[in-house]
Amino acid sequence: MTESRHPDLPAASPTPTVMSSVTGEILGDLSTKRRRPDPAAIVIFGATGDLAGRKLAPALYNVMLDNALAEPTVIIGVSRGDLTTAKFANQLQPRVTEFSRQKVDPAAWTRFATSLDFVGGEFDDDATYLALKAKLDAAATKGTRGNRVFYLSTPPAVFPLILQKLQQHALIERAVQAPGKPSCRVIVEKPFGRDLVSARQLNEMIGTYLHESQIYRIDHYLGKETVQNILVLRFGNSIFEPLWNRNHIDYVEITAAESIGIEGRGAFYEATGVVRDIIQNHLLQVMSLVTMEVPASFSADDIRDEKSQVLRSVRNLDLNDVANHCVRGQYRGYREEDGVAADSQTPTYAAMRFMIDSWRWQGVPFYLRAGKKLAERLTEVNIHFRAVPLVLFKEEAAGSVLQPAVLTLRIQPHEGISLRFVAKVPGENINVGNVLMTMTYADAFKRPISEAYERLLLDCMRGDATLFNRRDSVDRAWELIQPVLQIWEATPGVHFYDPGSVGPPAADEMIGRDGHSWRELVRG
Ligand code: BG6
Repeated sequence: MTESRHPDLPAASPTPTVMSSVTGEILGDLSTKRRRPDPAAIVIFGATGDLAGRKLAPALYNVMLDNALAEPTVIIGVSRGDLTTAKFANQLQPRVTEFSRQKVDPAAWTRFATSLDFVGGEFDDDATYLALKAKLDAAATKGTRGNRVFYLSTPPAVFPLILQKLQQHALIERAVQAPGKPSCRVIVEKPFGRDLVSARQLNEMIGTYLHESQIYRIDHYLGKETVQNILVLRFGNSIFEPLWNRNHIDYVEITAAESIGIEGRGAFYEATGVVRDIIQNHLLQVMSLVTMEVPASFSADDIRDEKSQVLRSVRNLDLNDVANHCVRGQYRGYREEDGVAADSQTPTYAAMRFMIDSWRWQGVPFYLRAGKKLAERLTEVNIHFRAVPLVLFKEEAAGSVLQPAVLTLRIQPHEGISLRFVAKVPGENINVGNVLMTMTYADAFKRPISEAYERLLLDCMRGDATLFNRRDSVDRAWELIQPVLQIWEATPGVHFYDPGSVGPPAADEMIGRDGHSWRELVRG
């Protein structure tokens, strides 16, 4: 516990004492409709690329190990080059070994490898699609019943070409997905466009080939357990919802800090930057889950309606907001990375303030920040509650001593929830100290947390679009960040920061002008 500065009301400790941890008791499954997916063929375009090796193949391997896949599930990789299926499997094995959540043992790998297949060819070549058609027909004979998921893990520039060829070869058909009929779904990776206009064009284009119910716009943050838990915490406990509004909440911080840099993706990152890479999708999605109204049900459309609704209530940023409430940074050394321009203005860090004009949130600032090469890897939502009226504690020091409570939703790592509040230090005086009540998933439930891609791939195979982005919310998220992109791209002005630091001081000044501060990042 903290010792006092003032005899009666001491300063609260900046590093609060951890008060307790929590033991979890599993109460039951609310997802009554969750079922094993139907047998299907999963076709991955861009199968030799980084995402397939780092995320998709490890996710499929793990769901197979967990017996969550239906028999048969056939995984067909499509990529340039002329790999045989055996070579494709051999290329994937070290990647899966490196990135898999569970150990890769030879027997399990052999089982996984037998579900793999490969088509090598150019995306504009009809022969590629004829070969794919033959593989899909063979899979259907094995028992996939014509169900298919196409995963577009390629640069967005080739989406139109792939969809047009798939349609031309009758591999996709625009139709409302109906039970009992073979399913045909397409997962589209981010970045979903590069600004509002291109995202709208992309949506229009995809909409000509596929019905909205067939389009699965993936944002892997939505598949994270801790992100899904935001709704359970808010709506499964009667103690939080009454406080979840402007009467009790002072401000909210949403941070996605990474300690890694751009990992050799210079050309991609130059064209993208942190606003498109993280804020437009991951952080605005998390913000919409934190701020949405109570949905009528947990159905995909009810949840997505409420998320869209709250994004529509977010105030559009104007010139003044971008100048005063948005900060961009770039880590020193970024310009020396491969594929990066020597005078690059691409932000690797951004912090921005959003306001939501709704009955619930009027006047509560939401600060979003994301950055690469920061002091620590941490994704977190901090809900700062209002300060208490100081009438009870008349001493001058009270204001600085009684730190308002903070509820932290820790998305990663050390997934969990904690509540910081003040308590009396035992003794004669009214000494107060900060305490931190913490629950971690690892302690509470003693279960491994599966990777977001595992959950999302299974959901798509089940036809559950709840955790995928609907067209309207993608559109609105672009609308919200469009002024930032436009102004920043027209005017140079990144603030530099040191790798391993907390980001540019300008971001502290920005939040400080409102009388608030960021949760401190700590060098690991
Ligand atoms: C991706 C971004 O969407 O998310 C990457 O393109 C980023 O730049 C990654 O590193 C972070 O994901 P996670 O799950 O590690 O927080």
